[in-house]
Amino acid sequence: MLVLGFESSCDETGVALVQSDGTQLPRLLAHALHSQVRMHADYGGVVPELASRDHIRRALPLAEAVLREAGRSVAEVDVVAYTRGPGLAGALLVGAGVACALGAALDKPVLGVHHLEGHLLSPFMSADPPEFPFVVLLVSGGHTQLMRVDGVGRYAMLGETIDDAAGEAFDKSAKLLGLGYPGGPALARLAEQGDAKAFALPRPLLHSGDLDFSFAGLKTAVLTQAKKLGQALPERSADLAASTQAAIVDVLVRKSLAALKESGLQRLVVAGGVGANRELRAQLDAACAKRRVRVHYPELALCTDNGAMIAMAAAMRMQAGVQQAERRYAFDVKPRWPLDAPV
Ligand code: KG4
Ligand code: ZN
Repeated sequence: MLVLGFESSCDETGVALVQSDGTQLPRLLAHALHSQVRMHADYGGVVPELASRDHIRRALPLAEAVLREAGRSVAEVDVVAYTRGPGLAGALLVGAGVACALGAALDKPVLGVHHLEGHLLSPFMSADPPEFPFVVLLVSGGHTQLMRVDGVGRYAMLGETIDDAAGEAFDKSAKLLGLGYPGGPALARLAEQGDAKAFALPRPLLHSGDLDFSFAGLKTAVLTQAKKLGQALPERSADLAASTQAAIVDVLVRKSLAALKESGLQRLVVAGGVGANRELRAQLDAACAKRRVRVHYPELALCTDNGAMIAMAAAMRMQAGVQQAERRYAFDVKPRWPLDAPV
């Protein structure tokens, strides 16, 4: 079975082709991505209307490129998958519209996928795929969640952020340091040259006794510190970046360990854009090695938004019998959509 997947929830248009046979893990045949980062950079963040219009321009040419790379024709596609939510409403509508129109034209069934489920299952495309059950640390631009995962579609929330997401904390702190958009990778790069112990920044909710997160206060602390430094900020910005990253990573690592302990599981999966952060990976690897916990990550290129994870999630949902694609081409999108809620 060939699944063609479209991702368009934010500022990347992603398309991919996944093959699913019997009970083996579905295989990624080809994927293509267009990042809108340069288009939005002038505005310091994602402009939703521009994002939607660009998805329209990119979706079909990317699909053609993917099919060409895989050496398949569009007629061979069995199922068309797309991101149904959460994300920007207009951007989601483009992917859903393209996928459903394509499905209708080809007389093939379609399936709407949860974006975060795509992230969560993306490590199954890595060279070291996990096995169920596991704890997942989902860290993206809009979400920070710890969940217990017992199988495809079996997700139980353990804790989540009560305000900003970890990715947002990276992005907002980066903006305060004048690093522009997208801030996470830029802040991480600058942090490599800084001293992580230079500034003592708060670790919110570290000792709250639950598995929730809060990152809004960190941003305020970074701002206060930046103001205090005043003219000296440019020469200390690497130190402040390193201290900020250390605070975020510290909380993510310690809460992940607490979630493992609480659930009694020995396997951790890290997914979402912040999962690309090298310091987070290094700290988690070290902490988990000590406790004999296995950690799994998506391939670096599949940490941030992409079409492969959407095609993969659709293929895995169908294979597990959790959901089947349908010839129902009237679509809706879900800009807000909790992952542990029924479809
Ligand atoms: O999963 P993702 O691509 O999109 C959402 O679904 O939100 O995550 C994007 C987030 C952004 O906040 C970005 O700054 C952050 O992931 N990010 C990073 C790194 N790469 C991406 N944060 C820290 N270090 C990185 N290397
Ligand atoms: Zn994402």
